[in-house]
Amino acid sequence: MADTITADMVIHDVVTKFPATVKVFHGHGLPCTACAVGARESVAGGARTHRFTPEKLDLLVQDLNAAVNGEPISVAPKKAPVGRGVPLTMASSEPNRKIKNVIAIMSGKGGVGKSLVTGLLAVSLRRQGLQVGILDGDITGPSIARMFGTKGQPSKSANDGIEPLRSKGGIKVMSMNMFLEQESDPVVWRGPMVSSAIKQFYNDVDWGNLDYLLVDLPPGTSDAPMTVMQSLPLDGVVIVSSPQMLATMIVMKCINMVQQLKGEIVGVVENMSYFQTPSGERYEIFGPSNGTDLVGMTGAPLLGTMPIDPALAALCDAGRVEEYYAEPYEVLAQNFVSTLKIKR
Ligand SMILES: Nc1ncnc2c1ncn2[C@@H]1O[C@H](COP(=O)(O)OP(=O)(O)OP(=O)(O)O)[C@@H](O)[C@H]1O
Ligand SMILES: [Mg+2]
Repeated sequence: MADTITADMVIHDVVTKFPATVKVFHGHGLPCTACAVGARESVAGGARTHRFTPEKLDLLVQDLNAAVNGEPISVAPKKAPVGRGVPLTMASSEPNRKIKNVIAIMSGKGGVGKSLVTGLLAVSLRRQGLQVGILDGDITGPSIARMFGTKGQPSKSANDGIEPLRSKGGIKVMSMNMFLEQESDPVVWRGPMVSSAIKQFYNDVDWGNLDYLLVDLPPGTSDAPMTVMQSLPLDGVVIVSSPQMLATMIVMKCINMVQQLKGEIVGVVENMSYFQTPSGERYEIFGPSNGTDLVGMTGAPLLGTMPIDPALAALCDAGRVEEYYAEPYEVLAQNFVSTLKIKR
């Protein structure tokens, strides 16, 4: 009998038509089903990106067909290890963690849109009815409170912890900005103080039950990312990049750091990928996409490519990021949620 699935078929077509094949891709270590590249890439192309030998590709295709025919497959779906960092009190004292997923958003380079991606992911998860918190780990350059328009100081919670502020949409937010008299006051702190503030934001804030705690980080591989990687029970890291070659090179340092510290990259996001005119023409202002390279370097799915959107920048500046709707961002969020679901 001829194979139903062949190596030249597009990955997303395969999984849409045959949902049973999702577990096969993941069992073979291919995250392509929740990857923006998988929307146009063939099974063979996905395997090439992840450096499969021809024999491994044959086995994958064989297993895909076996799954379609209800026959046994040669691999078991992989589960992601949970709780990479040294657990702090909240994690260690509770076998059933109150915070189900702790995800850090990182990038080697400044200004590529980490905070924006953090904010957008949070908004989308919240719209799906999930409980979401954002820990602004950029202690000396916080921007999350501003993006959400949260004003005022956090109060003492009923459990003697710190009550986080809530955005209009119900996202719990904790940011250093909330402790400053003036938003423009500088936080002139050395590394150890920054680290201790991040730990306190995790441990002493009364986050309650959360489906997702997103941790926005400053650029680079300094104290803040190190603290988050080593001290928080991190479930995964999302890497944000932009199409510039330079950005990718610096992003590589960040990827290496995560890998050295045995963290898991759960996805990559390419921001500022293009600009689309109202008439639908696309301009790749910062050059062609490096999305496939990023997937190759990290082995993680490309969760989405975000266009440059002046409307988005304006909403962020006005503290109204929760009012943003756009298709590329819905795709990003869907891929994010499905990636983590499959890993569980
Ligand atoms: N896709 C986009 N469209 C329009 N504006 C964007 C986009 N992405 C980011 N911006 C704007 O670019 C600026 C930098 O973004 P953001 O603060 O998220 O970057 P960052 O990586 O967190 O920066 P830092 O390294 O300073 O923390 C912000 O003003 C943001 O609103
Ligand atoms: Mg930022």
